[in-house]
Amino acid sequence: MHNIEQLVKDAAAEFARIDDAAQLEQAKARYLGKSGSLTELLKALGQLPAEERRSQGAAINRAKDSIEAALNERRETLRRAALSAQLAAEALDVTLPGRGRGRGGLHPATRTLERIEQLFRSIGFEVADGPEIETDWHNFTALNTPENHPARSMHDTFYLEESPGVTASGVLLRTHTSPVQIRYLQSHVAQYGHLAAMPEIRIIAPGRVYRVDSDATHSPMFHQVEGLMVGENVSFADLKGVMADFLRRFFESDDLEVRFRPSFFPFTEPSAEIDVAFMSGALEGRWLEIAGCGMVHPNVLANGGIDPERYTGFAFGMGPDRLTMLRYGIDDLRLFFDGDLRFLSQFR
Ligand code: PHE
Repeated sequence: MHNIEQLVKDAAAEFARIDDAAQLEQAKARYLGKSGSLTELLKALGQLPAEERRSQGAAINRAKDSIEAALNERRETLRRAALSAQLAAEALDVTLPGRGRGRGGLHPATRTLERIEQLFRSIGFEVADGPEIETDWHNFTALNTPENHPARSMHDTFYLEESPGVTASGVLLRTHTSPVQIRYLQSHVAQYGHLAAMPEIRIIAPGRVYRVDSDATHSPMFHQVEGLMVGENVSFADLKGVMADFLRRFFESDDLEVRFRPSFFPFTEPSAEIDVAFMSGALEGRWLEIAGCGMVHPNVLANGGIDPERYTGFAFGMGPDRLTMLRYGIDDLRLFFDGDLRFLSQFR
């Protein structure tokens, strides 16, 4: 009898010490398995006298029930412990604040370009574009600037080297958007065939241009917006009207003066610089240069496939970066291209 009670106590104590489910099953086998302690007692039952056998059998069965109960309890405890450990490890704090998404915004230069496009579209100008990697011919020669022309030295740029499989001779990063004039004239003529059927050309061509230049007001990469209008009887008066109207609408002010100052470009004749002066505000009375312009040179029209005897046109090239600086009161051009969020996020 004593033996059996001790066995139940030992089993319960042993189970309680075990923290591992597999070890618990091994411990179970030591008591209840084929050659477990309790099973051995059962086997010995047959050698007992008949009167003892009955009570001893009942005691062994009770002990078996107790051991199984202790075992199941321990199994349940271990199962719960494993579950809570798993839950703790995989815990997901649904009350944490979300990561959110950073709000982006358009770059001030992009905003200005969109604004310029919108204003010119409203007076019938389409938006055209051309490659930033340009041929020497489109960038200079076709624009009446032959090799060795002194005007080329003002447009020092980055030349591309020949590499195997690429014939790159005379290929450069365009120094202005004016080559789009040539490309557009040629494609327009190709599209409309004979010139009598040709509708008037009115385009602007915004884009990036490159020069070897870097300081607070010059960047090696900057933006230009080219303008071109070609048709019968297009005159300098049209140029003045379009630009003066554009500038007043761009700055949302009639409080500014626009002046055309005689200048020189190989691809226009006559040529001028366009200056604006504000009649009030911080910049009151200071003339600021914002574009070059002129009547398209007959050689340029001819290089574009257009008869200069019949058609005339004007062109301009303005610096939207400078317009953006004026509009927002920014004093250093380099801020546009540094990628500093403290600056950029002000334009969201
Ligand atoms: N392409 C000239 C420049 O970059 C500007 C310009 C364009 C002048 C069109 C006249 C006509 O300086």
